[in-house]
Amino acid sequence: MDGTPLAASRGGVDVNGLIGRHRPGGPLERPFYVSPEMFAADLARIHYRQWLFVGYAFMVPKTGDFFTYQVGTASVIVVRGTNGDIRAFHNVCRHRGSRICSTESGHAPRLTCPYHSWTYDLDGALLLDTMREFGVERATLGLKPVKLIDAGGLLFLSLADDPPDFSEAAATISRKMRPHRIDKAKIAHQVDYVVKANWKIVFENNRECYHCVPNHREYNIAAYDVQRDQALTDPVMKAKMDGIVERANARFRALGLDEGDAMSTMTGAFWRCHRTPVVEGFVTQSMDGKPLSRLMGDIGEWDSGTLRTTIFPNFWQHTNCDYAAAARLTPIAPDETHVRAWWLVDEKAVEGKDYTIERLLPIWDITNRQDWAICDAQQAGVSSPAYVPGPYSTVRERNVAQFVDWYLGEMRS
Ligand code: FES
Ligand SMILES: [Fe+2]
Repeated sequence: MDGTPLAASRGGVDVNGLIGRHRPGGPLERPFYVSPEMFAADLARIHYRQWLFVGYAFMVPKTGDFFTYQVGTASVIVVRGTNGDIRAFHNVCRHRGSRICSTESGHAPRLTCPYHSWTYDLDGALLLDTMREFGVERATLGLKPVKLIDAGGLLFLSLADDPPDFSEAAATISRKMRPHRIDKAKIAHQVDYVVKANWKIVFENNRECYHCVPNHREYNIAAYDVQRDQALTDPVMKAKMDGIVERANARFRALGLDEGDAMSTMTGAFWRCHRTPVVEGFVTQSMDGKPLSRLMGDIGEWDSGTLRTTIFPNFWQHTNCDYAAAARLTPIAPDETHVRAWWLVDEKAVEGKDYTIERLLPIWDITNRQDWAICDAQQAGVSSPAYVPGPYSTVRERNVAQFVDWYLGEMRS
């Protein structure tokens, strides 16, 4: 079989064949974005194995607080245990497999299955004596644990028994995010978007700003992404950007923050966390350069730049001195992705006094909606039998090629 639309209509594509014939640095063929078989392979080889961002530690402040996250057919409970640690368990009863928690979040002193009321403590241990009636030790019937890492208040989990090494990413995120105290933030606003595009189309869009001039008038006001790309080929712009980064770094050093650069390059194969300047004269990423909320955490002065955090395959966050804007991607279907966006502010920030949703939201909500419209249109075109992949810019789309190469490497392993 091959990867043509006809092959798909005959009932399947050759997933490994398509992966095997891809040329490094080049774009993906059509079935990667439309085929149900490829979507199933993405879930099995990417989302069920990699580190996924699920939420924030402050979402479960007290023992017994929990939230759930579903990806593919897997559902996970993230819960604050009796000793204060946050743990994650598969949301699957060890009796006959019922879903235990059906709500997105809640509070419970114990986790009770709705079917026959098997009850588990917050550490996942089954509280029922199963020996007499079921002939099985209850110690073998605890909830199945899921690996979870708290990186400075950001919670990542992996469904794999042997997930990729996340230690360097977690340490870097914890260290660089610390002054912003994401562990002491709160959600000012949340928006759920449904993008009619494959999750890779959504992430590829995030990895370039070639589209920013024609599409992101508002975002461009506060960011140097377009100039940064221009500096890769224009020596005059490079000298200008070098000066901007130097002045920004002097400010960051004075604030006790890590230094940054203007680039969008990944730090590791699947992650980055680095600070970039906002436009000179702006104190944060806003459309008028003015604050959108009170300073976050331990940040003592205005303008910390933007700490850009990106984790393949499902998360990015721009963390400013007064707010953070985040996006969590969840694949729903070959041509559908759920994006939950959060706007975080300091836990002490008061709506109406320190911030208003009317001012906080637009720069990222407008940018998000512009991006989803682009992604919807790309998915529609890619789905056509006429689609053949075109070339990537070796300058402005180099990070898209890096994402695709990472993806294929994981699909092969
Ligand atoms: S399936 Fe959960 S108690 Fe029976
Ligand atoms: Fe965009």
